[in-house]
Amino acid sequence: MKILVTGGTGYIGSHTCIELINNGYEVIIIDNFYNSNIEVLNRIKKITNKTITFYQTDLLNKESIEKIFYQHNINAVIHFAGYKAVGESVHKPLEYYHNNITGTLNLCDVMRKNDVKNLIFSSSATVYGDAAQIPITEKCPKGTATNPYGWTKWMLEQMLTDLCTADPDWNIILLRYFNPIGAHKSGLIGEDPNGIPNNLLPYIAQVAIGKLKSVGVFGNDYNTPDGTGIRDYIHVLDLAVGHVKAIKKLLDQPGITAYNLGTGRGYSVLQVIAAFENACGHKIPYNIQPRRTGDVAVCYANCDKAKVELNWEAQFGIDEMCADSWNWQVKNPNGYTL
Ligand code: UFG
Repeated sequence: MKILVTGGTGYIGSHTCIELINNGYEVIIIDNFYNSNIEVLNRIKKITNKTITFYQTDLLNKESIEKIFYQHNINAVIHFAGYKAVGESVHKPLEYYHNNITGTLNLCDVMRKNDVKNLIFSSSATVYGDAAQIPITEKCPKGTATNPYGWTKWMLEQMLTDLCTADPDWNIILLRYFNPIGAHKSGLIGEDPNGIPNNLLPYIAQVAIGKLKSVGVFGNDYNTPDGTGIRDYIHVLDLAVGHVKAIKKLLDQPGITAYNLGTGRGYSVLQVIAAFENACGHKIPYNIQPRRTGDVAVCYANCDKAKVELNWEAQFGIDEMCADSWNWQVKNPNGYTL
């Protein structure tokens, strides 16, 4: 079975491609390397012993996507490609809406023309906004996104829902990720953010290795046991398995549905720093800073739906997530830049 993976050299995409290959799927990657590196392809080859069919292109270049569908008998698409930096999206709303929304519309239009109507879409817990209820179930209504990036996910979920209403031949699964961290056990692939990281884990990892001085903790006056924000961190390898389970489900479940992919457990910023200290074996300096605009106090998932319907459950805990992030950081202090 042939799966087209958009954004397949990115952080979650690359781990998912390996899991797909290990499960016997034939993978075709398209990526424009906006937020990834060509070296990822070598690393995937090293891990799987397989050369992946790859096209460097952009979903905004519709003709190039049409050609790929013409050349290959694609059965399903996993769509990761998109801009994803929350802060940047606030400053570049037009770029975010254009890239994420137009790119996805182009992709769906080409899929429809080629009668490929099986799609897994990378969504995010961000669609719940400040959730009405914790832990968050999929029945929880979508909330108000706090930035353009979040709105693109929110709107695309709606567009894909409308598409399924209009044409029942589509099978679509929305995977709502909580906070992906960790790296492949080999230490060959992992998260390689551009510039100074925005997310907590890569920031901690770069402080731990001495590239950055101190972790800024954004607020210690939230209504949580230690006052810092609580999130549901999930190992990227668990997410990758979730995609393979979703592919299996897609083919016997018509229509559209959403699944939360998290662990169902929340950890505070200070707890994550402590777990990372255990992993790297030394103290990590941090300083308390004001709250970051748009952050919520607590966000963690109820993942019963994925457990029952996908037969999926996260396997790794916070200690293993931090150990694998550290292993990747130590082996690749400059990410994929050699
Ligand atoms: N945090 C810090 N210092 C930092 C970075 C983050 O204290 O330098 C805190 C945040 O305030 C928050 C927690 O660490 O409490 C996690 O923050 P991240 O930036 O790592 O992740 P977010 O929960 O803000 O957002 C992530 C993804 C989004 C996605 C969202 C879904 O970045 O793309 O999860 O819940 F939408």
